[in-house]
Amino acid sequence: MKVAILGTGYVGLSTGVALAEIGHDVCCIDVDGEKIKQLNQAVSPIYEPGLEELLIRNLASDRLKFTTSHRDGVSGAEIVILAVGTPQGEDGAADLTFLEQAAKDLAAHLEPNTIVVIKSTVPVGTNDEVKRIIEANCSEEVSVRIVSNPEFLRQGSAMKDTLEAERIIIGSDDQGAAEKVKEMYRPLHVPCIVTTLRSAEMIKYASNAFLATKISFINGIANLCEAVGADVNDVARGMGMDKRIGEAFLQAGIGYGGSCFPKDVKALYHAAKQSGKDLGLLAETMKINEEQRVLLVKKALNRFNGKLTGKKIAMLGLAFKPETDDMREAPSIEMAKLLHEHGAEVIAYDPVATKNAKKVIGDRVSYACSILEAVNGADAVLIVTEWDEIKQLDVAGLVEKMKHPIIFDGRNCLDEEKIRACQNIEYYPVGRPAIIL
Ligand code: UDX
Repeated sequence: MKVAILGTGYVGLSTGVALAEIGHDVCCIDVDGEKIKQLNQAVSPIYEPGLEELLIRNLASDRLKFTTSHRDGVSGAEIVILAVGTPQGEDGAADLTFLEQAAKDLAAHLEPNTIVVIKSTVPVGTNDEVKRIIEANCSEEVSVRIVSNPEFLRQGSAMKDTLEAERIIIGSDDQGAAEKVKEMYRPLHVPCIVTTLRSAEMIKYASNAFLATKISFINGIANLCEAVGADVNDVARGMGMDKRIGEAFLQAGIGYGGSCFPKDVKALYHAAKQSGKDLGLLAETMKINEEQRVLLVKKALNRFNGKLTGKKIAMLGLAFKPETDDMREAPSIEMAKLLHEHGAEVIAYDPVATKNAKKVIGDRVSYACSILEAVNGADAVLIVTEWDEIKQLDVAGLVEKMKHPIIFDGRNCLDEEKIRACQNIEYYPVGRPAIIL
């Protein structure tokens, strides 16, 4: 099948590469000429395990192409997928500017009968609006066939999540169009759920809001565990074995970040308000998350009697989660800001995200090239992102480098046995009893 994709961000690029891999003839379009040039040379603009390998293979087989020309990309396509960003607007609502522009750019070249699939995360009702925009900007009178097909991929496992998805949601009020999109995905052998346009749009927001709420719930319980002397890891394990609850997304820590959860929870809350519904539960989800982001700094302040001036603090990990260089809504940003305000000298290390971190955190912190360089002479270590390298940290080696080792583990990821094997150490996880030796 001939497929065109507008937008080569995380979603567009992963989808394009995956569709080429399963045998479709795919052309990805982006207005960013530099990016397209890079992609044509098989260089991925994002750090995503496995992506570059598939990029090289499918470019070589000629099933995958990249262009800045809407005309060339869309020409002859049976399906056009819109996968441009819908960032957070100033008022918390989704900003649809890129999507509206993409719809207009597409309208000029859309051929009759082409199916338009919207993958971008959009508030309920947006697919209808995009259909209206395209129809208003088409040169001929066409009735646009529109399908909502939200994406659930996670950064860091985007290729796996796309090629081995748990479900595919296809929302359309045009049965023939829904069937065609189902056919496009058939080689993946993934269950497809066909719904109306509006239900499909809602499934995406409701899923992300539910997962974010699950995280905030366990973080609320973690804080309570600390107060009453329980262990949130045991609590989460005990809860998760109940299939109705499930073990995933019960990892307590310093809160959720990234390009989706924070923005989508806000957008759903905002959209609900506009419809006269107050989803107070989501307000609480957001509030807990805000507080959780600075939990480690508060703990450090508490430990150093309210004063961080002159203290050397090492931050291990900066990205919002491991296996990505993405800094969007990373808890490390707020942490670095607060530590700086309190006069701490901060030295940070991340195996991949340093370049992006410099753009948002700037010189509030200095950047180390290794864990050992970051912790050298530090008064305290804050574990921010659970990269393998950080999880497998040589605690004994770290202890030697620090004045008096005090570790605040924001991801509960260090091996307790390694901590217990040390002397003269203070270890503070989240929602679990501290180890002070
Ligand atoms: C998420 C959704 O999982 C995905 O389906 C959607 O399409 C996009 O948003 P992503 O943002 O890539 O994907 O990351 P994810 O792995 O879901 O983690 C999101 C955040 O939650 C991270 O900051 C992570 O550290 C945090 N998290 C996750 C927890 O704090 N605890 C958990 O148990 C799980």
